[in-house]
Amino acid sequence: MAGLAHGGDPRLAARRAAWERKPALRAVYADYYRRMTDALPDGGVWLEIGAGSGHSTGLLDARLRMDILESPWIDVVGDAQRLPFADESLDGIALLDVLHHLGDPGRFFEEAARALKPGGRIVLLDPGITPLSWLFYHFLHEETVDMAADPLAPAANADDNDPFESNQAIPTLLFKREEHRIALSDRVPALKTVERRWLSLFAYPLTGGFKRWTLLPEAWVAPLLRLEDRLLPFLGMWAAWRLLVVLEKR
Ligand SMILES: C[S@@+](CC[C@H](N)C(=O)[O-])C[C@H]1O[C@@H](n2cnc3c(N)ncnc32)[C@H](O)[C@@H]1O
Repeated sequence: MAGLAHGGDPRLAARRAAWERKPALRAVYADYYRRMTDALPDGGVWLEIGAGSGHSTGLLDARLRMDILESPWIDVVGDAQRLPFADESLDGIALLDVLHHLGDPGRFFEEAARALKPGGRIVLLDPGITPLSWLFYHFLHEETVDMAADPLAPAANADDNDPFESNQAIPTLLFKREEHRIALSDRVPALKTVERRWLSLFAYPLTGGFKRWTLLPEAWVAPLLRLEDRLLPFLGMWAAWRLLVVLEKR
C-alpha cells in the first residue's frame, strides 16, 4: 500500500479549496450525503471509501474513512480493490465520485461483498451519462468518457493506479446497461441491486462542481432541488448528471 499513498496530493488540495469557497456546492453535496445516509442501514460500522478530500465530515456519519491517498481526514490508507477489513465486518460502504476512478471495479465489488455483513449495503453516487451530461462530460471535462469500455475488464494500470485516472462511463455502463449489470450479478451473486436512480438536473451543473466558477447562489439550491425531485422521473434518463446506486448483500 505504501507505494500507492501520495501524502498531500495537490489534486485533493485543489478540491478542498474549491469546497471551502463554494457554499452552493456544499449545499448540493449536503443533499447527496443525506440521500446516501438514508440508503445505509441504521447504525453499525459504515466505511466511506475515497474520503480523502474530507467533504463528508459532519455530513455522513461514517465510523471509518479510507482513501488510497493520505490526508488529515483519513482513518485508513487503503485500496478499495483490496479492502483491509475482515470478512463480514462492515454494515455499510459509501462512495461518492470514486467508482469511476477504480481500475478494477469488479474486484472492488467482490471485496465489498466479502467485507459486508449479510444485509449490509453499498451506496455509491457517481457521474451518470445521459445525452445531455455526455455533451458536457465529453467535450468540456478533462476526464475520459468511454461508453465502449467493458466496465468489468481490469484497466492496464489496475494494480498501481493513479487514483485520478478515470472512465466516467463506468457507473452508467455497469448499472444502466443490462448486459453489464447481469455480468456483475453473475460475478458477485451475493450483491443485489436495490436502487438505481438518476439524480441532479440543474443545481449541480450550475454550481460548476469543483471548477473555479459558479452560476448558482446558495439560496437557490433548496428550491431547485425540490423542483428536480418532481422532474427527475420524466427527465432523468435524458438530462441527469448523476447516478445513485444501492446494493445489498443477500
Ligand atoms: C474524485 S475524488 C472524490 C473525493 C470525495 N469523495 C468527494 O466526493 O469529493 C476520488 C477519491 O477516490 C480516491 N481513490 C481513487 N482510487 C482509489 C482506490 N483504489 N482506493 C481508495 N480510494 C481511491 C482518490 O484518492 C480520491 O480521494
